[in-house]
Order: sequence, then structure tokens, then C-alpha cells
Amino acid sequence: MSSDKLIIFDTTLRDGEQSPGASMTREEKLRIARKLEQMRVDVIEAGFPIASPGDFEAVKSVAETVRDSTVCGLARALEKDIDRAGEALKPARSARIHTFIATSPIHMEQKLRMSPDQVVEQAVWAVKRARNYTDDVEFSAEDAGRSEMDFLCRIVEAAIAAGATTINIPDTVGYNLPHQFGETIRTLIERVPNADKAVFSVHCHNDLGLAVANSLSAVLNGARQVECTINGLGERAGNASLEEVVMAVRTRQDVFSCDTDLDTTQIVACSKLVSSITGFPVQPNKAIVGANAFAHESGIHQDGVLKHRETYEIMRAQDVGWTANRMVLGKHSGRNAFRTRLHELGIEFESEEKLNEAFARFKELADKKHEIFDEDLQALVSETVHANYEPRIKLVSMKVCSETGEKPTADVVLAIDGEEKGVSSAGAGPVDAAFQAIETLVKTGAKLTLYSVNNITSGTDSQGEVTVRLEKDGAIVNGQGADTDIVIASAKAYINAANRLMTPLEREHPQRGDV
Ligand code: KIV
Ligand code: ZN
Repeated sequence: MSSDKLIIFDTTLRDGEQSPGASMTREEKLRIARKLEQMRVDVIEAGFPIASPGDFEAVKSVAETVRDSTVCGLARALEKDIDRAGEALKPARSARIHTFIATSPIHMEQKLRMSPDQVVEQAVWAVKRARNYTDDVEFSAEDAGRSEMDFLCRIVEAAIAAGATTINIPDTVGYNLPHQFGETIRTLIERVPNADKAVFSVHCHNDLGLAVANSLSAVLNGARQVECTINGLGERAGNASLEEVVMAVRTRQDVFSCDTDLDTTQIVACSKLVSSITGFPVQPNKAIVGANAFAHESGIHQDGVLKHRETYEIMRAQDVGWTANRMVLGKHSGRNAFRTRLHELGIEFESEEKLNEAFARFKELADKKHEIFDEDLQALVSETVHANYEPRIKLVSMKVCSETGEKPTADVVLAIDGEEKGVSSAGAGPVDAAFQAIETLVKTGAKLTLYSVNNITSGTDSQGEVTVRLEKDGAIVNGQGADTDIVIASAKAYINAANRLMTPLEREHPQRGDV
């Protein structure tokens, strides 16, 4: 058994959310946070409290709710950021402030316009300020992957002396190679005189597809915390994927002298939850959580696995939570069974009214589809029940005609701010006709930049889950809709995106502000 513990710091709710179109409501963040806690993630970075009032409230709610994981808030090395993070984290049983400043020559000169001495001074000041709120302070040297080693050693030593208990080394732009990044961590641990007073952490981006490899190389060289996200969600090409890091370490215990405390059987459910909330589908061949990750197509492989599983499988599907779809509820299930199953999935309702609303939708679905799986429940709850705003646009009815040789048409009636309006439009296909009709009524003027359909479970009676991405004046929103009829699911997704566009989440970006 491994001697050391590897701390898993999940940043799905902060860096993951910085992915264009992945903004989450407070309610959605809470659902994911509960699942991460259930999975025994050590630290949950819940957001960037200074970014917006919504982000502040989300971090506060996660801090109020989560008991078994440390809740973390991000703050630039600025007084207003640190104080806001400290305030949001007040209700947490275990709180961490994560403060950062850029340390690479290009960032210090071009972005911060500060000298290296000023950067060290600001970092030390920020760590001390954060220590007024909590003893658990993490310091990150942003763009450490392109920073000079002597300067990195100097600032890390100063941050530890000022009271930082975790030192995070980010490869912010995903530029490093595994051997080089591992060497950086080893050198830091060897050269910084007070290195033994802090846990060394890494935070890798995936621009060259190396985020997981770089993180693992760092672990082999002494890092004992990895920052990662579910499904590798994150800005640009994303962050290191939690499931890949955790399973690599667990599977290769012959190589790693540390392990995580994670309950890996929750991984697939957590991946599905994040995908359904953000509308970012998981590619079928994605390691660990892709639909094909454990599917053996070739006859030779199937034959081998049947004779002896380990001929072609290095992990057991059930160890990461792949079980055969379980029929959990049906037409005759009552409200209590419904509530209990949702509770097991980490979904709680703010009020009886919301529960009743969800239960009514469940009954409607059970009439159309006899077997209701966990994935159906997640989609059902994701749709609107948990939105923390009242949607301005609602679908009242829709009729679509599609016939060989004829142009498809859609008759759509919407309630916009309570007033019903209808229109009929033609399109290249039924979905196109429905979108044209909705756009004629709501006039978002937005560009449709993504349309994707996935079946939630298998079988032709499965619900289709549709993601629509709309872009307008630099704002990007994703909308989701689920239904056994994919044209209706598409219309719901478009309406959901339009509602989000009309309720913009104003937020600052952590890496774009000046210090
Ligand atoms: O990528 C990065 O450098 C970050 C820091 C804020 C840790 O996300
Ligand atoms: Zn990052």
C-alpha cells in the first residue's frame, strides 16, 4: 500500500467554468459540489468570489453545504479579492484561500507591468492577508511553466515564509513537456530551503494534450496535490482530467508511492452530471468515462476478455462506476421513491414546490418512457427545475410536419414574459424549421455555433439530450433540452440558451485583470 496521500483539488467549478459556455448557476454548482464531496474529493475550488455577485453567492452556498471537503475560493493578490473570498468562505467547516500572481517574465512585464521585486512583495502581502481569514492558504505562481527557476525558488520560499501551506505550480498555457515539468517540481523541492513546510501542487492545462502526463510526472517528482477537473473541462483545451489522474495513480501503484482517498465508483456518475449541466458532451473514446472506454469491439479482444479479463483490461469498469443501466423508477413510483433516488444522486430541492414541479415532469416522462434511469433523472432536473431565475421564454406548444418531398414546417407557440405568441416557419429540416420559428419570436439575433444531440440511455425510446450554443456580442451560452422527441428536445435547448442570453452572468476573468 502507498505511503503518501495524493490530495485531489477539483477546480471544475472555477477553472472548468471558465470554459466558454460552461457558466453554471449557483444551484448547478451546488449539485456538482455535493457529488464531489460524496466522491471524497479533498479540496473543491468553488469559484472566484470577486468575479460577480453570482459567483460570490455560489462559493458561499458551497461553503455552507459541503462538510467533508475543504472549500476553496480563488483570489488575485489583491485586497478586494482576498477579502471577498474570505467573506464567501466564512460558513465553511474547512476553508482555503487560493491567491495567485504571475511570475513569468512575459506576464510580469506585459500584463502586470511590475518588477520581479514588486511581484514578490505583492505575493507575500497577499498570503499574509489571506492568513487573517484561514490557516489554509494556497499560493500559485501563475505561468510558472514559463518562469525562471531562480525567481520561482525565490517567490516560493517567500510565500511559504509568509504562511502559504500549499504551493501550486501551474502550467497556465500548457507549454511544458512531462520530463521538464517533473524536473521543475523536483528542483523546487530540493532547492527551496523551507519546502518541507508546504505541500507542492500542480495545475496543468492541456494545450498540447499533456496536462495529465505533466501532472503525473510532477507526482513522480514529489508533488502531492493535483489540480484537475471532471472530464478535463476548462479553458481552451481544458485542464488535467480528474478521472485520468486518479485512475492512472490507482492502476499503477507499482510506480506511484502515493494514492488518493477517492471513491472511484462515483466517477462515471460525476462525469455524466458535469456533462449534462454544462452541455459539454464526453467523446465516446475518452479514457475512463467515454461510452467506449470499456467496450471491446474486435472479436479477438472479446474472446480474450471472456477467457480472462486482464488479457485486455487494466481496470474494472465497475471500479469507476460503469454498471449496467439500472432501471430505478417507473410509472408507478411514488413521490418518496423519486425524492430518495434524487437524494442518492446528490440532488436536493430548495422547496416542496420545486420537488412537486420535478415530480410532475417525471410522471410526464414515465408516461412516454417506461423505464427511467439515473441519467433521465439528471437531465430532467437539469432542464429548468434548478434554474435560479424565472425563464422569460417558455415553450407552450409545437407542431412539426416532416414529409418526403416537402419542406418541413414548424408551428411554435411561446410564452414570452407571460404573453403567448405563435408563428409558423419552414426550414431545411424539422429542427431548422423549429429554430427559425423560435428565433422569429424571440429575436435574439445570436449566431448558432453548436448543435449536438446525444441519446441519454440506449434504445429508441431513449431521451435525446440536445446542446445548443448561441453567441452574441462576445457572450457565449449553452442551452440544454431533453425529451424522447428530439425535435422538442432541440426546441427546449434553443429556448434554454435564449433565456440564458437574456439573463447574462456578468463576471470578471481571473487572468485578465491587472494587479
Ligand atoms: O492556469 C492557471 O494558472 C490558473 C491559476 C489561477 C492557478 O488557473
Ligand atoms: Zn488554470
